[in-house]
Amino acid sequence: MEKLAVIIPAAGSGTRLGSRLPKPFIPLGDKTILEWTISRFLEIDCLLQVIVATSIDYIPTLERIFAKYSLSHSHIDFKVVKGGSERQNSINNALGIVHEEIELVAVHDAVRPFVSLENILQCIAVAKEVGGAALGVPAKDTIKKIDKEGVILETPNREQLWQAQTPQIFQKALLKKAYNIAIQEGFLGTDDASLVEHIGGIVKMVEGDRRNLKITYPIDLKIAELLIHEKQ
Ligand code: CTP
Ligand code: MG
Repeated sequence: MEKLAVIIPAAGSGTRLGSRLPKPFIPLGDKTILEWTISRFLEIDCLLQVIVATSIDYIPTLERIFAKYSLSHSHIDFKVVKGGSERQNSINNALGIVHEEIELVAVHDAVRPFVSLENILQCIAVAKEVGGAALGVPAKDTIKKIDKEGVILETPNREQLWQAQTPQIFQKALLKKAYNIAIQEGFLGTDDASLVEHIGGIVKMVEGDRRNLKITYPIDLKIAELLIHEKQ
């Protein structure tokens, strides 16, 4: 199996959720959202490094969480880095400390605690083969492109539209190159695949699961609470 690192961006401000506590640190059942997310990746045998990007205030919290995991996963290097102003900057900070020996890098949002082990493994296999893999689901709503006044400009064919999720997993050299060029050019993307696409790299969509929701709005947190109770 390829040597894997996972980067978990957890430095956002959670504007759309509007909670006082940053989203990754909100409790869900008996753990925080971030702990559910980390635990899921710890099930992967080839995982050798975990890097979480967070705001300065939460670095001590992360160190406590890592101390606990290090006891049972001594072969994994757990690190925390300072987040940046955009998700992309948070991930770029983390990429700077990925070990030399690592072959594949996964990026997974701290706030997607329901990703399945099977889907992570599928992304690993595809990334190994083609360069990059992004988990996603077919768009269920009709998607419209609109102008500043809200007037609909076009309706892209839904068959070609997918909602990208994470993890997105890449060969390390490809992802690092994509980030370096994006930073140089001031190119800002909302996911990692878009940076790789920008340099002409191949990223394949892997069909995931609608349970892998990103806790973004209050309704998502309500659904997450239902899903956790189902699980516990
Ligand atoms: N993130 C990050 N650094 C940023 C912005 C976001 O590490 N500067 C992380 C978030 O913590 C989250 C993931 O990227 O785990 C996905 O982002 P999103 O769901 O948009 O979270 P927020 O940016 O916190 O929320 P919002 O956009 O509503 O403010
Ligand atoms: Mg955001």
